[in-house]
Amino acid sequence: MANIIVVGAQWGDEAKGKIVDYLAQRGSMVVRYSGGNNAGHSVIVGEEEFKFHLVPAGILHPDLLCVIADGVVADPGILVKELKALSDRGVTLSNLKISAACHIILPYHRLQDELEEESRGDEKIGTTGRGIGPAYADKSARHGIRMGEFIDDERFAARLKSVLASKNAVFTKVYGREPLDADAILSEYREYAKFLAPFVTDTAALIYEAAASGKGVIFEGAQGTLLDIDLGTYPYVTSSHPIAGGALLGTGIGPTLIDGVIGVAKSYTTRVGAGAFPTELNDETGAAIREKGHEYGTTTGRARRCGWLDAVILKYACRVNGLSALALGHLDVLSGFKEVKICVGYQSGDGTRLSDMPSNLASRTDLTPIYETLPGWTEEIDQISQWEELPHNAQAFVHRVQELIGVPVVTLSLGPARHQTIILNERVLQTGK
Ligand code: IMO
Ligand code: MG
Repeated sequence: MANIIVVGAQWGDEAKGKIVDYLAQRGSMVVRYSGGNNAGHSVIVGEEEFKFHLVPAGILHPDLLCVIADGVVADPGILVKELKALSDRGVTLSNLKISAACHIILPYHRLQDELEEESRGDEKIGTTGRGIGPAYADKSARHGIRMGEFIDDERFAARLKSVLASKNAVFTKVYGREPLDADAILSEYREYAKFLAPFVTDTAALIYEAAASGKGVIFEGAQGTLLDIDLGTYPYVTSSHPIAGGALLGTGIGPTLIDGVIGVAKSYTTRVGAGAFPTELNDETGAAIREKGHEYGTTTGRARRCGWLDAVILKYACRVNGLSALALGHLDVLSGFKEVKICVGYQSGDGTRLSDMPSNLASRTDLTPIYETLPGWTEEIDQISQWEELPHNAQAFVHRVQELIGVPVVTLSLGPARHQTIILNERVLQTGK
């Protein structure tokens, strides 16, 4: 099987976990390459629902190797909790490897996240509050602590004390807060380190071997293209690289080993947190999408902002990720609308029409979406398993999306369960092209 990157094509929550779970049946390894426990990936197997925050969704396949790679920021307490909960449910963990190079999130990162959000006032990003931004900032500032150091007791104690001294100076002098206690952190986190140590290794070589062997590596993206720190709607983004390029940076794999990139998108658009969202619907249609699509966060429980599908954004995702294909989901949620809309461009304040996403989208308050309106369908489609059985108007919607973005739609998801998937192009799923 091919080496395939699975990437969110919108603002996250595209149901990447489901397609990773599907592809994982044929691959030999699933690698989570970026982000932290800001992510929430759900996989439904029979009657059971699994929610992953840090562990790759591939863990449900015991024959696969699963890797948490260099580009991830891992909160040890959350990771231990997630692993114990999986183990309690009978999931095998012996096939999990954690990179010694991934950075860890510590209590001061969470506190910093909270204080920085507070100080932003009206310009809050609406972060998940998990310490993600501060952990990546420390990594870039070169005082982050990596997993390999974390599981070395003496080294961790020394690093923690040194970093905490400067963090506490900021907490007390800038924010007027109490300092954090190094010894209390050490005694709690030593337990996590002991639990995690057997999983920790140099994963870059492992991933390379699997990718070069031709047995298939699936790179599991978290978040989405528009949340990328460089290519997203800055500053309303996360602090990592969810895009396909992030899979290379976050694992140590070179681009020539990648066979294909599958983008994942909903048939409409959602966003959690603040920032530009041209097709947002603050009306009963938006509310209807939210209710029908259960659009409440897996990680924070927040109600997601909802709106029509934005093909401008999808085209952008095709370009910056080099998408070979799109996995389109949540089509069942659009059943019952008299008409459905697709945004095909933006009208700017000065009357010009934009058909490509502007890099300053986040600060453009003058853009209104230009819609194409398609007839809707009334039938519920969540139990349909063949393309031919879909209502004509649902098929027309998919065809139009495909035409607008210029890459093939290879899978259609009509619900969260494994069987609620229509495969449209098996060859692309096998070869990545
Ligand atoms: P999955 O993997 C949706 C959003 C947050 C916020 C911004 C920055 O489930 O698709 P952060 O805590 O990362 O500093 O918050 O990014 N965000 C997500 N939105 N799905 C996610 O992950 C997200 N991860 C971060 O809501 O707007
Ligand atoms: Mg999410």
